Amino acid sequence: MQIGFFDSGVGGITVLHDALKILPNEDYVYYADTLNVPYGPKPKDQVKKYIFAAVDFIVKQQVKAVVIACNTATSVAIEDLRVKYDIPIIGMEPAVKPAVEKNKNVNKRVLVTATALTLKEKKLKNLITKLDNRHIVDLLPLPGLVQFAEKIEFRDEVVLPYLEEQLSQFDLRQYETIVLGCTHFSFYKDMFRKLLPVHTAIIDGNMGTIKNLKRYLEKMQTINEGKGNVIFYNSGVRIDDKEKLANYSKLFKRLDSISV
Ligand code: DGL
Repeated sequence: MQIGFFDSGVGGITVLHDALKILPNEDYVYYADTLNVPYGPKPKDQVKKYIFAAVDFIVKQQVKAVVIACNTATSVAIEDLRVKYDIPIIGMEPAVKPAVEKNKNVNKRVLVTATALTLKEKKLKNLITKLDNRHIVDLLPLPGLVQFAEKIEFRDEVVLPYLEEQLSQFDLRQYETIVLGCTHFSFYKDMFRKLLPVHTAIIDGNMGTIKNLKRYLEKMQTINEGKGNVIFYNSGVRIDDKEKLANYSKLFKRLDSISV
C-alpha cells in the first residue's frame, strides 16, 4: 500500500524529498490543495474543512498512513483527524523543543518562523508556554515565502530582499537557532543561511517527521512495499500532464541543489 502526503501546496514536497531518501522502497500519493493554498492567512474553521476534504480523498486512495506535511494543518486538525481515521496520521509541529533545549546553556534566543495561523494557534502557544520559561522565543510569520514557493520562484534577487527585510526586525546576532515551522520555508534554507550569522543553526521538522513515519511502518510491519513511485494530485485532480509534472520536478531539483 502507498503512503499519503498532504500539504496546502508545494511545501510538503520538502518532506517527501526526505522520505524518498530514508524510505525509497515505498510508493507515495502527494496531495497539494492548490485550489485553497495558502492556509496561513485563513480562518481556522475554513482551513479545517479543506483539510478534511483532502484527507478523505487521500484515505480513499488505499494508503497505509498519512503524513500531514504541513505545520498549519497539524496545528488546527491533527487531534480530530486521529479520531476520524484508524490509520496512522503523522503530523508535524515547529521544532521548538529541540531549539529551546539546545539553547539551555547559552544566553541566546530562538526565532520561530511559521504561518500566521500556526503562530496564533493554541498548540504552539501551549508548547512555548511549557518550554520557554526564560522567554527566549520570538515569532515571525513569513507569508511571502509561501507565495514564492507556490510560484516556483527561487531566484535570489527576488526572494532575498523580502527575507532580508523580514529578518531585519531582529538583532540576528542574538539568535542561536531559527526554526523553520512551515514546510514551504525549507525551500529557502540556503537563503536563510546567507542572511544569518554563521553561529545561528537552522532547523526544520522534516527529518524528524520521516523518522516518526518509519517507526510507525516498522511497528505495523508494512515497510518496503514499493519502488519510490509518486502519484500527484492537485485538489483531487490527478496530475498527468507534462507541464504540471515538470513543475514538481523543478521543486525536487531545487531541493537537491540545497546543501545547507
Ligand atoms: N506548508 C504549510 C505549513 O507547513 C502552510 C502554508 C500555507 O498554506 O500557508 O504550515
